[in-house]
Amino acid sequence: MDERRAARYGRIYEQLRELIEGTSPNLTAAMATICAVLHAKMPHHFWTGFYFVAGDRLHVGPYQGAAACQVLEGGGVCLEAVRTKEAVVVPDVDAFPGHIACDARSRSEIAIPVLANGHAVAVFDVDSATPNQFSDADVEPLQRILSLLQPFV
Ligand code: SME
Repeated sequence: MDERRAARYGRIYEQLRELIEGTSPNLTAAMATICAVLHAKMPHHFWTGFYFVAGDRLHVGPYQGAAACQVLEGGGVCLEAVRTKEAVVVPDVDAFPGHIACDARSRSEIAIPVLANGHAVAVFDVDSATPNQFSDADVEPLQRILSLLQPFV
């Protein structure tokens, strides 16, 4: 990850901490605020959003970007993150078996589960229209941002 992106993550975390700790009334508001700020400030983000866990399916939550799949089921990157409770980094979506293409322009992706008491309750997902946009180095700064949701889960 380049230094510019690392510095941006730091600034975005501070801005979101202030916004969420100061004013977010609930989980949906905090998620929407995270999407809005990250999507606006990260030029490589093509789609930025959340899915909520609903049994063995996922239902779309707050997001920014093109209209997305309303329901995910049967496989894919987001369900893999929920199943493993671990971040899933996909440098090339065509190389990920079962990848669900809500938008054919998506080329790389990262999905990070939102955990509550050890259970995945949602998943945060970012798509890029450029291949190879995510690596393991993106996981920790994004998890730090997602930790701002913990008071609401
Ligand atoms: N590609 C995801 C589907 C969600 S969209 O990218 C918004 C997946 O395989 O789970």
